[in-house]
Amino acid sequence: MPHAAVPYQTGFATQQVHAGEHADTTYGARITPIYLSAGFRFDDFAQARDRFSGDDQGFVYTRAGNPTNAALERKLAELERGRDAVVVASGQAALAVAVLAVAKAGDHVLSAQSIYSGTRSLFTQGFGRFGIEVEFVDDARDLDEWRRRIRPNTRAVYAETIANPTNEVVDLAGLAGVAQAAGVPFIVDNTLATPYLVRPIEHGADIVVHSASKFLSGHGAALGGVVIDAGTFNWSSQPSAFPHLNEPDEGLQGLSYLEAYGDGAYTAYIRGVTAALFGPVLSPFNAFLIQQGIETLSLRVQRQASSAAVIAAWLEAQPEVLTVNYAGLASNASHDLAQRYLPRGQGAVLSFVLGGGEASAQRFFDSVELFSRMSHIGDTRSLILHPATTTHAHLDAQTRAKGRISAGLLRLSIGLEEPDDLIRDLERGFAAIRAAAAAAPVIAHERITP
Ligand SMILES: Cc1ncc(COP(=O)(O)O)c(C=O)c1O
Repeated sequence: MPHAAVPYQTGFATQQVHAGEHADTTYGARITPIYLSAGFRFDDFAQARDRFSGDDQGFVYTRAGNPTNAALERKLAELERGRDAVVVASGQAALAVAVLAVAKAGDHVLSAQSIYSGTRSLFTQGFGRFGIEVEFVDDARDLDEWRRRIRPNTRAVYAETIANPTNEVVDLAGLAGVAQAAGVPFIVDNTLATPYLVRPIEHGADIVVHSASKFLSGHGAALGGVVIDAGTFNWSSQPSAFPHLNEPDEGLQGLSYLEAYGDGAYTAYIRGVTAALFGPVLSPFNAFLIQQGIETLSLRVQRQASSAAVIAAWLEAQPEVLTVNYAGLASNASHDLAQRYLPRGQGAVLSFVLGGGEASAQRFFDSVELFSRMSHIGDTRSLILHPATTTHAHLDAQTRAKGRISAGLLRLSIGLEEPDDLIRDLERGFAAIRAAAAAAPVIAHERITP
């Protein structure tokens, strides 16, 4: 499969356009075509046999691989500086296939407390039923706490570069050190930062996952997910911890995944087992949309992050706002880590807490006109959500409090509109709160439970 390898000396904008592009030798199509085909014809008996044995690298069936998806995988692997990548149907699917290719029943995964609510549910409700225990570290900055919580059966350390929705930035190199000392991979969800703002592999991460439905696709049109493997983790240092990669496999004529695939063992296992057998296939049509989105990734993220910084500073100056969770603000607890890991920008998702609690949040939410009320992020359009009554409503109050999801918290995902227009729209929210306070000055008591 002729995929372009773009030299790393070129800048990000060049790579995002050209990396992984597939040269169409039949018609000369400039864009990687959408190969919407369930399967691929074999020339003869011998080729069919060789495709299945792996002696012929051609495609067989789209659940196991597809040329449009392969071009996207190459692009994402190169942008994140990984060895290889596997695309799947959603971000949730990416997390599922990534963790299930590391841990099995009886194993333990150590995760940051502040993570996307869907990932938390996958970890507790999904993996819990499979016998994989996920434990949460409250203060992700406390590396000693991570070290203390590592157990003999820990199989991965997990965190988001920028946590959704509370914006904590993790110490990537610090957590990579904790994982390395424990002999387990460090898995990072880089959805909110994107490889334009930071490449976790360059700071020691072993595996990077994304919801490609967000900034990568960028236009809110396609769901997708990706697992990118740095290819550097030593899976044979503790063979009993990762028996599925170290022991002979019946699908590989008695070879182990490590013997058959070397540095590519982890992605080969995902391709052959957790993705191909559980089956969350990315449609090649969505792969096409995501690859088109990535071609403008840096332009969008630059602009969206700079608008988010302006809006965060403006929100911080509003008297009704108790806190703004945006790592670009000097007042934010993650500001030092953001300066270290995210010098190009601190992302376009932020949240803020209204002193008036849920009542104020509701008034604010119902007053905006330009922001879309939606459970989504990373779109060209600006979006708003009240996590406590939506994405986090199913959690008990204690878990919500640990995750800093208070009743007055609103999450914004800043799009590509003019920042002045967005601020004018947010002013509608504050005007509604002020009008309610003027009509019935009970708002003061609501400050007690933001
Ligand atoms: C940080 C993060 N990871 C993963 C996901 C899940 O992605 P998807 O919705 O594509 O399954 C999301 C979705 O919001 C997210 O914000």
